[in-house]
Amino acid sequence: MNPLKTEPSLSLKMEGFETPATIAMSMRARELAAQGNDVISLALGQPDFFTPRMACDAAYEAALDGKTKYPPIDGVLSLKQAVQKKFKQENGLEYALDEIMVANGAKQILFNAFMATLNEGDEVVVPAPYWTSYPIMARFLGGKPVDVICAEENNFSLKAVDLRKVLTNKTKWLIINSPSNPTGAVWSRQDLLEIAEVLRDFPQVWIFADEIYEHLVFDGQEHYSLAVLAPDLKDRILTVNGASKTYAMPGWRVGYVGGPKRLIKAMLKIQSNSTSGASSISQAAATAALHHCDNDVAEMKEAYDRRRKMMKEAFSKMSGVTCAVPQGAFYVYPGIEGCIGKTSAGGRKIENDQDFAEALLEEQHVAVVPGHAFGLSPYLRISYAADDKVLEKACKRIAQFVERLQ
Ligand SMILES: Cc1ncc(COP(=O)(O)O)c(C=O)c1O
Repeated sequence: MNPLKTEPSLSLKMEGFETPATIAMSMRARELAAQGNDVISLALGQPDFFTPRMACDAAYEAALDGKTKYPPIDGVLSLKQAVQKKFKQENGLEYALDEIMVANGAKQILFNAFMATLNEGDEVVVPAPYWTSYPIMARFLGGKPVDVICAEENNFSLKAVDLRKVLTNKTKWLIINSPSNPTGAVWSRQDLLEIAEVLRDFPQVWIFADEIYEHLVFDGQEHYSLAVLAPDLKDRILTVNGASKTYAMPGWRVGYVGGPKRLIKAMLKIQSNSTSGASSISQAAATAALHHCDNDVAEMKEAYDRRRKMMKEAFSKMSGVTCAVPQGAFYVYPGIEGCIGKTSAGGRKIENDQDFAEALLEEQHVAVVPGHAFGLSPYLRISYAADDKVLEKACKRIAQFVERLQ
C-alpha cells in the first residue's frame, strides 16, 4: 500500500453521528447574523439570565482560597451534602452520600449511566418528543433507542398502555423527563403511578428520571419524583438534576444524581477514567446556589411564567397553528399541521417542519427547531428563555410568516 494515499481514519462509531438540529439551526442563525441580519434565535435551551451573584462570588472565593486542586471524582463534600439536603427537603428522597455523585452536567450523567450499563443491542425506551441527546447517546454507546409517542391529545405525557407495548425483555432503560424538553409537559401523578405499575413487570429495566426542569412548573402544577411515588423502584432509578437550568448556570457544567450505590460506583469508575471530577470552582458556585439562591430562582420563574403566557397568547392567534399550554420548562411546542402544503412569501413549499423552520429563518430571521429533531412532527420547539421584548418581536415575525403562507 502506498502510505501517501492513506489518511488517519475516524471510528466507525462516527458514522451516522449527526450534528443535532438545535446546533445546526443556531449555526445557520449565527451565519445570517454575521452577514448583518437582525436574527432572533429561540433555538437553544438555555436561560437568558445571569448566574446569581452569590454563586459567582462563591466561585471567586474558592479560586482565591486555593480550591484549585483536582476535585474528588464523586464531587466535593460540601456540594454532595447540599445535594443530599435538596433531595430530602424538596423531593422527600433519602440518599446516602455514596448514592450521590456530581458530574460535568447532567449530560455526563447520561453518558456515564449508558456507558456503565448498555451492551450491544440493549433497548432504551425514549418517550417522544425527546431531548435529542437521549437517542444519540444510546446509539453511540451500542444501545438501540425505541421511541414511544406521547401524543398532544395526552398532553405529551407517556401513557402506561403505550409504554407496555414497547417494553421487551431487551429493554435496559426507560427515560422519564418531566417537565419535558421539548414540550414543557409535566406528567401527572396518576400517569407516573401507572407507569410505575408497568415497570414492576419488567424488573430488568433501569429508569433515568431527568428532573432538570423540576423548578419550572406553573399553574399550580406539582413536580413528582418517580422514586418518591414508587419507593419499591428506587433501587432502579437515577434521579438526575443539575445547576444549568434552575440557577442559570449552563456554562458552569454541574449536574448531580442520586441513585443505587452499585450503579453510582460504576459511573464513578467511568468518570474517573474520562473527565475526572467536575470543576472545583463550579462546584463551589453550585453549592452556594443550592443553599442561597431560592429567591433568584423564584424571580426567574416569574419571568418565565409571564413569557409562557405571552407565547401561548401569540400562537393561539395564528391560523393553522395549535399550541397546548406548556406547564413546565421554558419551551412551547406548537403544532403546524395547518401550515403543511402551503407556500411561504419567499416561494418555499412547506412540506414538513424542517421546511417551515428553514423558511422562517431565511425570510423572517427567527431561528426555531423543527419537531422532527425531537421525534414528533409537524411541530416546532421554541425556547422562551429570552428577553420579553425579543420574544414579542419574534412572535410578530412568526405571525407575519404564517399570515403570508398561501
Ligand atoms: C432534558 C435535559 N436534560 C439534560 C440537559 C443537560 O443539562 P446539563 O447542562 O446539566 O448537561 C438538558 C439540556 O438542554 C436537557 O434539556
